[in-house]
Amino acid sequence: MEIKQVKLVYFSPTGTTRKVLESIAAGIGTSDVEHIDLTLPEGAQQSAPPFSDELVIIGAPVYGGRLPVDAISRFKQLKAGSTLAILIVVYGNRAFEDALLELKDLAVDLGFIPVAGGAFIGEHSFATGDLPIANGRPDSRDVQKSVDLGARIKAMITALPSPDAQVDLEIPGRFPYEGGARAMIVSPALRQDACTVCGTCAGVCPKAAITINGSVVTEVELCIRCSACIKNCPAGARVWEDSMMKKIATWLNENCSVRKEPEIFGIDG
Ligand SMILES: Cc1cc2nc3c(=O)[nH]c(=O)nc-3n(C[C@H](O)[C@H](O)[C@H](O)COP(=O)(O)O)c2cc1C
Repeated sequence: MEIKQVKLVYFSPTGTTRKVLESIAAGIGTSDVEHIDLTLPEGAQQSAPPFSDELVIIGAPVYGGRLPVDAISRFKQLKAGSTLAILIVVYGNRAFEDALLELKDLAVDLGFIPVAGGAFIGEHSFATGDLPIANGRPDSRDVQKSVDLGARIKAMITALPSPDAQVDLEIPGRFPYEGGARAMIVSPALRQDACTVCGTCAGVCPKAAITINGSVVTEVELCIRCSACIKNCPAGARVWEDSMMKKIATWLNENCSVRKEPEIFGIDG
């Protein structure tokens, strides 16, 4: 089969999932690459046309060993008709647990034919300079692995006579899935002295939880702790000050410092 077009479908508040997907697409080498970015509420409202004979790469971060609830609800608007899909989760060097299996089951329900999966590592949403957790990842080694995966996907799909030739893709994980992001009503603090009210935080919030009205107002009940406002603030005015969030980041920094490597499923190394 020929890969005519690649579509990247993702939910990626701090951009690491997006970066992995882009590197895989670079390895596939098709010039026709379209982004369907479902991170922001307005992106989520756009209705994607049904997929058919393109190759779709679907990516999401891991939250509590599962898919983020908002990624699931946004992916659920997608429809596919026997469309080949590559499934990617990106996690912060702790564990991906049931997230990739959950993504595979969701993709099958939507009409995709998953042919390969991967779990990559991205800088943890809660990481800071003082409490690093996989900082800077995906780094050049990860990017090389993503590009290599893209090249192998291309070779595999080119050799396929038809999508029906696929065998079932085996993905590790438990069903019923366990875990999930813990429910916490908390949002990043605002350093009033540093904030320039530029509005960047409001523009990157996947939940539209931040409004600018002379000052920055955050609706704490909506916050999913994705940390996009922190990582994108040009003035460093958004920070985690909550004691439980600091405890979690300290635990991750102390217990998840050994470098994990990307894992690929359904395609030989
Ligand atoms: C609420 C929440 C829960 C998370 N849970 C996990 C987890 O269970 N395991 C892990 O390794 N990383 C976890 N992470 C880290 C993200 O998976 C990681 O930072 C990922 O690279 C973020 O993707 P993005 O840049 O596309 O937003 C969590 C992040 C958040 C915000």
